[in-house]
Amino acid sequence: MVLYLPTPTRRTFLTSAAAFAASTVLPASGLRNARAASVKELRLKAAPGQTHLVPEPYGETPVWAYNGAVPGPEIRVRQGDRLRIAVENALAEETTVHWHGLRVPNAMDGVPHLTQAPIAPGETFTYEFDAVDAGTFWYHPHQRSFEQVGRGLYGALVVEEADLPRVDRELVWVLDDWRLTHDAAISGDFGGFHDMSHAGRLGNTVTINGRVPDAVQVKAGERIRLRLINAANGRIFALDFGDLAPQVIALDGQPVAPHAAPGGRVVLGPAMRADLMLDVTAAPGTKVRITDRFFAQEAYGLVDLAVAETPLRDSPPDWDMTLAPNPLLEPDIARANRHEVTFTGGMMGRMVERQMGLAGSGGMGGMMGGGMMNRMHDRGIWFINGVAAEGHIIDPMLTLERDTSHVIAMTNATAFHHPIHLHGHSFRVLSRNGQPTAHREWQDTVLMAPREKAEIAFVADNPGDWMFHCHILEHQAAGMMGVIRVSGKDERI
Ligand code: C2O
Ligand code: CU
Repeated sequence: MVLYLPTPTRRTFLTSAAAFAASTVLPASGLRNARAASVKELRLKAAPGQTHLVPEPYGETPVWAYNGAVPGPEIRVRQGDRLRIAVENALAEETTVHWHGLRVPNAMDGVPHLTQAPIAPGETFTYEFDAVDAGTFWYHPHQRSFEQVGRGLYGALVVEEADLPRVDRELVWVLDDWRLTHDAAISGDFGGFHDMSHAGRLGNTVTINGRVPDAVQVKAGERIRLRLINAANGRIFALDFGDLAPQVIALDGQPVAPHAAPGGRVVLGPAMRADLMLDVTAAPGTKVRITDRFFAQEAYGLVDLAVAETPLRDSPPDWDMTLAPNPLLEPDIARANRHEVTFTGGMMGRMVERQMGLAGSGGMGGMMGGGMMNRMHDRGIWFINGVAAEGHIIDPMLTLERDTSHVIAMTNATAFHHPIHLHGHSFRVLSRNGQPTAHREWQDTVLMAPREKAEIAFVADNPGDWMFHCHILEHQAAGMMGVIRVSGKDERI
């Protein structure tokens, strides 16, 4: 596998085109922000384009992009602002935009057929919602996302805290993994059976902000807030920062008690984010390599940090790095309704199910002939509680009464990792394999290892039909998707 060395390009900050006074002050709830908002208006145009993913002597790569760039424009607002985003579809196929991790009203969630009609080629749809939570989020299509995201349609959406923690510099790194041909074109084999039934589409070229990166210049003593976003279809990253010991201050946009990454690795499944406080404790004139060790046998250098000869200061600053919590409602665990959710399927799935004492519900054996493969392909390869979804119009797997607390006990009875994402809510990760988590972190996407069990909890405070799916986009397309309905009306619209 050829892995190029990836670099952050300078991001263009999108500031408000217009700022209006808007009164969005509504009754207190976890979904509302008390302060009056300003409205940020912007346009995104999804269209074919070209970009330099890999350096010379390679040429440009034909991509699909928002506003001609990969990633698309970085959207940056303050917590409590209102966003009004007109999305124009200049692709040859339908699309939508999903605001990953933002707790938006259901009609703004960007799920084709479920929450809106897909945006037809040539049409424009305007999304409008409040940035309720501060944090690091992102946006991407939800229509044939395994190809649309895979061709470059995604961007960062940063909601700044009212009180930004003090840092010297902030970097946003949108990570992606591309399967390129020898002439740096995107390999057109999207949605292949092997990718769908194994670990998703793994590529051969990793980029940061749409470029194979050069070294990043840093200074000794500098404090950097690093916002990491994994926009890859299938690749999971486990970033080792060498001698540096970054503190994790937020996961999936939600603040967490600052802590060193467990095992010294910042692990990010597809769609997951981490905010790090990175103190450059390395000596002037040295280099620090950031290594992705998720596949131990195929560890590679993601990017180098080049420490300048002249330090910024002698030792790292002692500024407070704790972020204020977002307005999330605390689930009442003692009185929560409990639900069991089991994931099955995929290659070698039947073996895992047997080992875990489950009656076979659709996993695949180790070997099968072409006819069998085609049948699996039609029926779906991955299952949630025995059901493989086809498309986005699905009967709800759970119906939850609005404003009640829920615990979902999940079992990954498969041989693969799955980053499981719930729309419209953030949830606390209470336990893994029966052990309480150290930080009870809020996430919107929880990475489950093969055979792992995890319990998540949340208040179902956002009414509507919400997707619940694996964010390995090939798994999602091959059935690993369901709908959780939160009954009740949304008076915000
Ligand atoms: Cu980031 Cu349903 O998606
Ligand atoms: Cu999956």
